[in-house]
Amino acid sequence: MTKSSYLKSCLSPSSKLFTPIAKATASLSQRSKAFAVYAYPCIGQLRFLNTRLTHHPSYPTVLARLRGGATLLDAGCCFAQELRHLVREGIPSTQLYGFDLEPRFIEFGYDLFRDRDLFQATLLAGDVLAEPGSKGSGGLDTLVGEMDVVFASSFLHLWDWADMKAVAKRLVAFTRQIPGAVVLGRQLGSLTAGSRSMPMEGGSSYWHNVESMREFWKEVGEETETRWGVEGGLREEEEITENMGHAWAEPSMRILYWTAVRQ
Ligand SMILES: C[S@@+](CC[C@H](N)C(=O)[O-])C[C@H]1O[C@@H](n2cnc3c(N)ncnc32)[C@H](O)[C@@H]1O
Repeated sequence: MTKSSYLKSCLSPSSKLFTPIAKATASLSQRSKAFAVYAYPCIGQLRFLNTRLTHHPSYPTVLARLRGGATLLDAGCCFAQELRHLVREGIPSTQLYGFDLEPRFIEFGYDLFRDRDLFQATLLAGDVLAEPGSKGSGGLDTLVGEMDVVFASSFLHLWDWADMKAVAKRLVAFTRQIPGAVVLGRQLGSLTAGSRSMPMEGGSSYWHNVESMREFWKEVGEETETRWGVEGGLREEEEITENMGHAWAEPSMRILYWTAVRQ
């Protein structure tokens, strides 16, 4: 069996090597370990078993670019399930990068997908908000100027406007300095944009709609001397229903899908 077919069979729901029962047991075990590190709702809801990029309106374009050799960075990759999906789609792992604050989440990903010796995407531990070149930044400085596409799933909503802008500016720094570079994402948003108190996310969080996201990227552009065209839309998804039980939930909650393209 070649390495790629082994990897495919490990990840396939019909895999004999990774039966549904084994998969369920492994998933619950990694979920418990990860939830003990930090109780993100996405971990509690086992969302690391699904991909989000595939639901994104820009996915076909991104996939075509990757097939043409583009690089992609998964920001706040957690278990790096998105990158593993792209390997299944035939994208060479040498084009794929991810980073996360929590090295244990990266490790849990290798344990869950049982591919430590096979999955060769570059996964880095580091704090996106740490000063470039500092110890906290880890290996993130190596990403500067290298990415054609940066994907941020359930990531930017961790912060309020000012810190979110600092994070977005760092993501811009990771992109190639060329028109057509893309930063895209999906996150908790709202019909009514604004700051919300989110104790679990460390204080407050900004819930965007499409208009506020355009304004946000205008500021990011001005402060990085770049220009970004932003498209997006709000969707009602299962995730919204799953989060309705939280004290911070609101009927206006939606999932915001957005794509910012460098002009
Ligand atoms: C809500 S989870 C989303 C995980 C994944 N992108 C997904 O959609 O399933 C947010 C992730 O961002 C990571 N994260 C939080 N703060 C970070 C920071 N300052 N630098 C890098 N990663 C961070 C967390 O460790 C976590 O894995």
